[in-house]
Amino acid sequence: MRDFIDRLTGGMTTEEKIGQLNLITPGDFTNTGAVINKNAEETIRRGNAGGIFGIYGPDNILPYQKAAVKESRLKIPLLCGLDVIHGHKTIFPLPLALSCTWNMEMIEETARIAAVEAVADGLSWVFSPMVDIARDPRWGRIAESAGEDPYLGGEIAKAMIHGYQGGDLARPETVLACVKHLAAYGAAEAGRDYNTVDMGRLRLFETYLPPYQAAIEAGCGSAMTAFNDLDGIPASANHWLLTGVLREKWGFDGLVVSDYTAINEMTAHGLGDLQNCSARALAAGCDMDMVGEGFLTTLQNSLKNGSITMEMIDAACRRILEAKYKLGLFDDPYRYLDADAPSHKILTGSHRKAARKAVAESCVLLKNAENILPLQKSGTLALIGPLADDRRNLPGTWSIAADWQECVSVHDGIKKLAGDSVDILHAKGANIVDDPHLAERLNVFGETVVIDPRPPQEMIDEALATAKQADIVIAVLGEAKEMSGEAASRADIGLPECQKKLLRALKRCGKPLVLVLMSGRPLTLAEEHETADAILMTWFGGTESGSGIADILFGAEIPSGKLTASFPVHVGQIPVYYAQRRTGRPPTGDPLEKFRSRYLDIPNDSLYPFGYGLSYTEFSYAPPVADQTELNGRDAVLTLRVAVTNTGDCDGYETVQLYITDPVCSITRPVKELKAFQKLLVKKDETRDAVFTLTADDLKYLNADGDAVFEGGEFILHTGSNSRDTQRISITWR
Ligand code: BGC
Repeated sequence: MRDFIDRLTGGMTTEEKIGQLNLITPGDFTNTGAVINKNAEETIRRGNAGGIFGIYGPDNILPYQKAAVKESRLKIPLLCGLDVIHGHKTIFPLPLALSCTWNMEMIEETARIAAVEAVADGLSWVFSPMVDIARDPRWGRIAESAGEDPYLGGEIAKAMIHGYQGGDLARPETVLACVKHLAAYGAAEAGRDYNTVDMGRLRLFETYLPPYQAAIEAGCGSAMTAFNDLDGIPASANHWLLTGVLREKWGFDGLVVSDYTAINEMTAHGLGDLQNCSARALAAGCDMDMVGEGFLTTLQNSLKNGSITMEMIDAACRRILEAKYKLGLFDDPYRYLDADAPSHKILTGSHRKAARKAVAESCVLLKNAENILPLQKSGTLALIGPLADDRRNLPGTWSIAADWQECVSVHDGIKKLAGDSVDILHAKGANIVDDPHLAERLNVFGETVVIDPRPPQEMIDEALATAKQADIVIAVLGEAKEMSGEAASRADIGLPECQKKLLRALKRCGKPLVLVLMSGRPLTLAEEHETADAILMTWFGGTESGSGIADILFGAEIPSGKLTASFPVHVGQIPVYYAQRRTGRPPTGDPLEKFRSRYLDIPNDSLYPFGYGLSYTEFSYAPPVADQTELNGRDAVLTLRVAVTNTGDCDGYETVQLYITDPVCSITRPVKELKAFQKLLVKKDETRDAVFTLTADDLKYLNADGDAVFEGGEFILHTGSNSRDTQRISITWR
C-alpha cells in the first residue's frame, strides 16, 4: 500500500492533493446544514473531491464514480458515504434501543446486515457507530447513542465495528466504519444540541472517551469530529484531541473527517475567517472537510502564508488514499456498484427476520402489575393512540434510506400474530402533539405528525367509547420520529399534554391499561407509572416494529431488554446516571437531616435505573461468591460466580450485571461502575451461574492524563439485575 500510494502521490499536484480532502454531497437527501455542493460531477472531474455522501443506489452513484475514474486526470475513485445508523433499508431499532438488548452478537449482526445492504446500494463508507455517551435525555441525539455507560458503550462500539468492517475491508460486503463524534458531543450543556462542552480531563477520560478508544482499538477505519467545542477549542481544530489523544495516545492511523460544515462553523464559534479555521483544522489533525469546502478554497493560500505545511496536506491525503486502497477501490472502483444487487440483497426475508428479533429484544418492560402481560389471544382489545396504527414514525431518527411504507404498524403486527382470535378495535384518541407550529417543525422531512381536524375532546370521547367495549386497553403513545435525533432537544421530556390527557381518561374507564411507548429518549414517566398497569418501552423499532412488539405483547418472545440510560423522575435531576461520583454529604435515610446532597422536592434516584428491565418470569439472585477474597499482584485472576434461579413460569433471558466500587482511592470515584455483564438463558425452575473473571486491569481507573492506574486495597463487587438492586462482596487486591 505504501509503495502504491507513494507512486500515486508522487504524480499529484498540490491542488489534486487538496481535492482529495474535500467531501461533497450532491444533496439529494436530508441535509443537516446549509451548504449543498453545486455541480458535483464537474467538481469530481476537476479532481476536487475525494468522496461523496448523501446519495445511494448504484445507478445514482455510478455517474459520479465514472466522472472520477474516467474523467479526472488521476482517475482516483471516490469514497461513497452515507449515514447508515441503524440499518440501511431494513431499519433496525434505534441505537439506544439496540443497546438495551445487551446482546453484542445481535448488535454486530445488525451492523453486518446494514453493511450488506449499504454495499448493495453502492456505499463503501458508513457514518457509524455514534458512540457519544449521553447522560442528558433532553439531548435528542441520545437516540443514536448507546446510553450513559462507558464500558457498555465500548463493547457496543466494538461489536458494530466488527459488523461493518468484518475484520478486513477487502472482504466483500464490508464497509469503512466511522466512529463519531469526537469528542464528548453528548455532553452539550443543558442538553441543547451543538452547545458548548466543558469538562475536566478526568471525566473526559473516564467517562466520555472510552467508547471512541474501544472503536479505534477494534480497528475502526475513520473518525468524525464533533460540532461542539471542548474546553474552548472546537473539536474539529482541537490538536490535543485529534493528534495528541487520537493519534499519539491511541495510535489511530485512519482518516478523520469533519462533521457537516463543522470547519466553517468555527467562524461562528468566534475563531476567525474560513481560511484561518481551515488551516487550524488541518493542523489539528482533521483530514477531510465535509461539505464546507474550506480546505478546497483556502489551503493553497495557507500553504503560501506558512500557517500549514505541505507535510500536513500530504499526511491527510495519504490517509484518505489509504482508506480507498483498503476498500479495494483502486483494484476495482466499481466494486460497490452492482446494479442488480439491490433487488436481492435489500429488505430480504432474513434481514426482516433479524429486525423483528431485534425489536422484541430491544423492548424494555418497565412495569407489569398483576402480570397483565402477556396478553391472551382472545377477547376484545382496544388499540388506542396516535402511534397505534402509525407507520410513518416507526423508522425513527436517522433512517435516511427508510421507506416507511415497508414498516409494520403495531395494529398490523397484532392483527397478523393474533389473527381472528382477537377482536381489535382502534381509535386515535389524541394527536402526537396538538400545537400546529410544533407539528410544522416536526414535519420538515415529510409529514409524520398529522393533526386531526376534530377537537381533542371529541377524539378522547371516541377513544373512551371504544375502550368501553374492550376487555383490555393498549395505549400506544410517545414521541414523533423527529422529536428525537439531531437538533431535537426537548426541555420537557414528558409525554405531550394531549396524550397525557388521553391516558388519564382511559384510566378512568377502569379497564386494564397497557401503555406501549415509542420514543427516542428516556421520558419522565412518574405519572404514567402510577396510571398504567403495564408499561412497555419500545423506542422506535424500525421496519419490523409492529411484529416485534406483538411478539412481546402476546408472549411469543419474553422481554429481556434492560435500560442503558436512566429514566429521571423529573427533568430537574438531569444529568441523570447511576455512576455518580461520591460526594462528602451523601443523602441519608433521615429526610430531616439538612446538610445533605439532595433535593427538597424530588428524590435523587431515577424512576427506572440503568440496567433495569422486567421479564415475564422472575429471577432470584444468590449473593456473589468469589474463589478468593485476598489477591496479590497483577497476574492474579479472580473468578466470581453468581447463581441466578428462574422462579417464574416461563424460560427467560436475564442480563446479569457486575459493578465495582473502589471505597478508598486517591481520587473520588463513582459509587458504582459497570465492569462486566452476561446475558443468560435461564429456563423455568433452572439455576445458572454467571461466571466473571476479573484481572487487576478491570480494577484500574483512567486518570486525568488518560493513563490506567491500579491502586490496590479493598474493592466491592456488586452483582444484580440492575444498577440499583445488587448484592455485594468485598475483596482486597494488592
Ligand atoms: C451529523 C453527523 C452526520 C453528518 C452527515 C451531521 O449533521 O452530525 O452525525 O454524519 O451530518 O450527514
